[in-house]
Amino acid sequence: MTGLAVRVCRLEDIVRNCGVNALVGGEQVAVFRLDDDSVRAVGNHDPFSRANVLSRGIVGDLNGERVVASPVFKQHFSLASGVCVEDETVRIPVYAAHVEDGVVLVEPRRDVATACCYCGVGCGVLARVENRRIVSVRGDPAHPANFGRLCSKGLSLHKADPSFRGLYPEVNGRRETWDAALEFVAGKFASTLASDGPDAIAFYISGQFLTEDYYVFNKLARGLIGTNNIDTNSRLCMASAVAGYKQTLGADAPPACYEDIESAECVFIAGSNTAWAHPVLYRRIEQASPKHLIVVDPRKTETAHAATLHLQIVPGTDVALFNGMLHVMLREQWIDRAYVERCTEGFDRACEAAKAFDPQTAAALCGIEARSIVEAARVFAQSSSTLSLYCQGLNQSSSGTAKNVALINLHLASGQIGRTGAGPFSLTGQPNAMGGREVGAMASLLCAHRELANPDHRAEVAAFWGVEKIPAQPGKSAVEMFEAVRAGEIKIVWIACTNPAQSLPNQKLVHEALARAELVIVQDTHRHTETARYAHVFLPAAGWGEKDGTMTNSERRISRVRAAIAPPGEARPDWRIAVDFARVLSAQGRKLFAFEDPESIFNEHRETTCGRDLDITGLSYALLDERGPQQWPFPEGARDGTKRLYENGEFPTPSRRARFVATPYRAVAEDVDEQYPLRLTTGRLRDQWHTMSRTGTVASLFAHEPEPKITLHPGDLARLGCDEGDLVKVSSRRGALYVPVAADPGLRPGVAFLPMHWGNRFLGGRARLGINELTIDAVDPSSHQPELKHCAVGIALAELPWRLVAFGGVGDVCALFEALGPVVDAVPYAARTLIGRERAGVRVVLAAQAAPPRHVLDCVDQAFALGTGDVAKYEDGAISRLVALDEDRVRAARISGDVRSERWLQASWLRGEPVAELRRHLRLPANVAPGAVAARGRTLCNCFDVGECEIEDFLASPRSLDELQQRFRCGTNCGSCLPELRRMVAACAPSAASSGFSARA
Ligand code: SF4
Ligand code: FES
Repeated sequence: MTGLAVRVCRLEDIVRNCGVNALVGGEQVAVFRLDDDSVRAVGNHDPFSRANVLSRGIVGDLNGERVVASPVFKQHFSLASGVCVEDETVRIPVYAAHVEDGVVLVEPRRDVATACCYCGVGCGVLARVENRRIVSVRGDPAHPANFGRLCSKGLSLHKADPSFRGLYPEVNGRRETWDAALEFVAGKFASTLASDGPDAIAFYISGQFLTEDYYVFNKLARGLIGTNNIDTNSRLCMASAVAGYKQTLGADAPPACYEDIESAECVFIAGSNTAWAHPVLYRRIEQASPKHLIVVDPRKTETAHAATLHLQIVPGTDVALFNGMLHVMLREQWIDRAYVERCTEGFDRACEAAKAFDPQTAAALCGIEARSIVEAARVFAQSSSTLSLYCQGLNQSSSGTAKNVALINLHLASGQIGRTGAGPFSLTGQPNAMGGREVGAMASLLCAHRELANPDHRAEVAAFWGVEKIPAQPGKSAVEMFEAVRAGEIKIVWIACTNPAQSLPNQKLVHEALARAELVIVQDTHRHTETARYAHVFLPAAGWGEKDGTMTNSERRISRVRAAIAPPGEARPDWRIAVDFARVLSAQGRKLFAFEDPESIFNEHRETTCGRDLDITGLSYALLDERGPQQWPFPEGARDGTKRLYENGEFPTPSRRARFVATPYRAVAEDVDEQYPLRLTTGRLRDQWHTMSRTGTVASLFAHEPEPKITLHPGDLARLGCDEGDLVKVSSRRGALYVPVAADPGLRPGVAFLPMHWGNRFLGGRARLGINELTIDAVDPSSHQPELKHCAVGIALAELPWRLVAFGGVGDVCALFEALGPVVDAVPYAARTLIGRERAGVRVVLAAQAAPPRHVLDCVDQAFALGTGDVAKYEDGAISRLVALDEDRVRAARISGDVRSERWLQASWLRGEPVAELRRHLRLPANVAPGAVAARGRTLCNCFDVGECEIEDFLASPRSLDELQQRFRCGTNCGSCLPELRRMVAACAPSAASSGFSARA
């Protein structure tokens, strides 16, 4: 980064312990020379006096910290962090400064344009770098995916707690050098290749890789090792969409683009809670306010609340619904015959399959009214343009491909494709699942949308790479891969940037597999994931903000991702790790992996696309840097990328026609029965991402959903004899877990919902494996994508009357979180999460039949340092309350027996205010709080820290959204909370709300 630094003056030009003012990157900077001749630089502006005076301040030590005192009002500012000693909420900028050859150099603050690493919307992000740290982020106004917007997750990108990062390579739990670790792995590879052949090795990689990372791992597996055992967590995400596109349209290419949202008369959302899963795209839908918004979802999600028509189907019955809609279109002659005849084939086959699905039959299967199916078919076919948006509700299914195909059939039959505002449009779950598909990093694919099963394609890739051959033996897809590891067929598994010990279904099998593998290599940014616990070798990887390369979002748009700062410790970029390993492995590796930077990898990948449907031979880093993100195809000579595909009615099939495919309806893999009478479906939370490796280190992202819970229809709750907050035992044929229950009237009776995120780091308990202990590993026959969206479960009230809650913050959050590991494994139910905002802490909840052995409580007390200092205690038989105080402020607490006092005690901790009366209140009934401390409920608006209780109080009398926003500002920044706020406003003034955005905004 020295190259960016600005020359200020010679060191001797500054008197020791004094400062000078310099202009750096257009900003006034106060540069100080300390008595050890090191230099520090902070903003020259004093926020209290509003004068540019800090360079004239006095440098000194305060509580062991170097500070500068403002010459005006005398506030002190840390020269390391910029934080004001007298008021921690005020901070001045800090600049990286150093001395080189006697010259003082200061690095300017700068914004680095990169992209968000969470969902497939692919938002552009401007990362503000200050003193070699990313101190804030904002949406990139120039990025066409988001035009400056970010959601609550994106806005928290820079807040990930660094204490959770893996910093150096480890072999069998011991720190090693990179050379030693890679040589160790290379030795194991060599012996396994000699004894068992290449198919005893597998790579399980990630949709969060950059395209360049993907490319080198694909080449490593197939080109150097000689195995097709390479698959990615995109198998859990987009495999059915890929299969659906290929079967019907001939290529894995989403035909539509984000701009189509503004032109669509009907937006048809199926199996996606877009409001939470793709929030920035949802803002665009809200703004476009389409005439018709049809939502197909078994849950009345925040997205479904805005629908003009919500089809609340029984989970897994989408094919019956789509076939029913096709039946109606045929019967009512809402078919675009001219389009069907000119551009498609196989129409009769699809019609034949739809014959059996008259609206009554389809309605009976789907559990909705027949007239809703007729209405959906009418609006879909007769709107001037219909755009369907779909995601995991279709993909994560044992008939995921059929669901995708049946929906695309509707687009082809009604001619709603290849036009502005129309088309099927899969929303990519992960940020770069598309990039992985482009480079062929899935078991059945090869580079640039080539097919492994095609001998010509294999020969083309082998010739391109200069290797003898690409093996013909099919590789194992994700679920098969871990089955083969458990069976001992695969002996070495290299897992990069993903967490299969949380995310795959049927976790018992996965954990058994990882325990059995001879060598598990985990390459990740975070050291303590569920999977990393099994690592024989841990390789620390660079993360968001530390990597260079490209990503492709849902609309085929390739963006540059840029490193803003260096990776921490010894972490390396993912592509670099693969390249370094290949070079250690063999001479052939050194020849094939001559890459020195991501650009050289991109250029090689680019050449593989020549003449293919995704041809990007016209793209380069230089062009992306100059003109911004571009959509593929972008062949050499093209002036621009391609916004929308198939506008000429031609498709990349042998006949140039799109194909209708008959889609018989198949029920879910596991039906309900007497023992398991409820249908469990899974989905996302608004503020968490996947297995929470990263978002699970940001305390404020827990505020919206502080603890795991399962939701049920209130009728089901009553039938089970449960109240809100009761602990229940949820069992499936594969396992069980304990979790609190809550009512959701927006669920169908008979359906239960659990968020996908809660692995056993957060939702623990003795021998428990998180939410996917329950889910089934049945897969779709074409896409091999597992049915994560449905399994049969039984639920019963749990007999775990003993409760404990402890919370607090001391020092390193990761160390505290991990120190509680033995505790969460010691009792049947445990939930471990983060709390706080600027100041983070950990919260743990335990439940058991009776109080656990004393050493468990000692472990809690030790973790939260409850045994030392000023600790207020109240003990009364089974009830105990311990509160550690720092100058009358709550530092940590442990409560057992009656845990209701947690609400106000935690509120005290969060506010950090002195609680003089606390000692007396500890002796009062648990729910009686000191006067000033009120519980605030969940945080609905993360941007402005607005709690549910405040909003409910304000809405006790009917108010408009405007009034609510004027009062609290909630919803006026990222807007992630807007759907929920709208719903609450509508609930307090029901007459003001009907359906659609315009009625509620
Ligand atoms: S919608 Fe949110 S999570 Fe998705 S890319 Fe944009 S900022 Fe990231
Ligand atoms: S959560 Fe961002 S505006 Fe409310």
